[in-house]
Amino acid sequence: MADDRLIVALDVASLDDVKELVTTLGDSVSYYKVGMELFYAAGPNTISYLREQNKSVFLDLKLHDIPNTVAQGVTSLTRLGAKLITLHSQGGPVMMEKAAEAATKAAQELQVERPKLLAVTVLTSFDDEAWTATGGQLPIRDQVVKLAKLAKASGMDGVVASPLEAKAIREACGEDFLIVTPGIRPSFAAANDQKRIATPKSALQDGASKLVIGRPITKASNPPEAVELIIKEMEAINK
Ligand code: C5P
Repeated sequence: MADDRLIVALDVASLDDVKELVTTLGDSVSYYKVGMELFYAAGPNTISYLREQNKSVFLDLKLHDIPNTVAQGVTSLTRLGAKLITLHSQGGPVMMEKAAEAATKAAQELQVERPKLLAVTVLTSFDDEAWTATGGQLPIRDQVVKLAKLAKASGMDGVVASPLEAKAIREACGEDFLIVTPGIRPSFAAANDQKRIATPKSALQDGASKLVIGRPITKASNPPEAVELIIKEMEAINK
């Protein structure tokens, strides 16, 4: 059976590829992540297809603009039926507040479940040099926690974070805050280009609410078997 703490990343560029993967994985996966590559290529049809298949959708478009524009964007994405939507906390408190209001209003009007909004704090691709070059002053780790707290205070439901940051965020933001972590490598998988990685079990132990996993499943020689092994690892930690 599917575990809704597992979100499989659909890092493909066409609806045909999505259909193939979703069909292959069948009932073992209930949650999928649609990112920029897929959404910009195949658009809202992808979301409609996933919803027809009874799958939950994490729409990872990392919105970042003036508050009004982001709020309108969130309204449109709520209409599409995404369950999780990402935006950049560096857009500031007003942007996040307006986005949260827009999600609530659009969901009420449509009588659908309100999507949860997740903030991105500092992209894990930043190293100290890039961080300083763009004006960062606090150590990255402190900035991550600072932005996570700001996101919570501004009405965000959670954050996307490295599994290595999960513990500090959980301590700072409490039990009800969602922490969604990519950068997961099950014990049987290759690291690929991920450097700061954790196993499914250790990420959940450190406080992650949901795990985003791509290549260890999508590039596995037997993807359903990879899912089965991952779910087994996850089941060791209670929901
Ligand atoms: O590495 P893997 O194929 O498991 O990637 C899973 C997803 O998480 C991808 O869509 C990737 O873009 C995303 N992601 C990540 N690391 C981050 C942020 C997002 O791997 N720091």
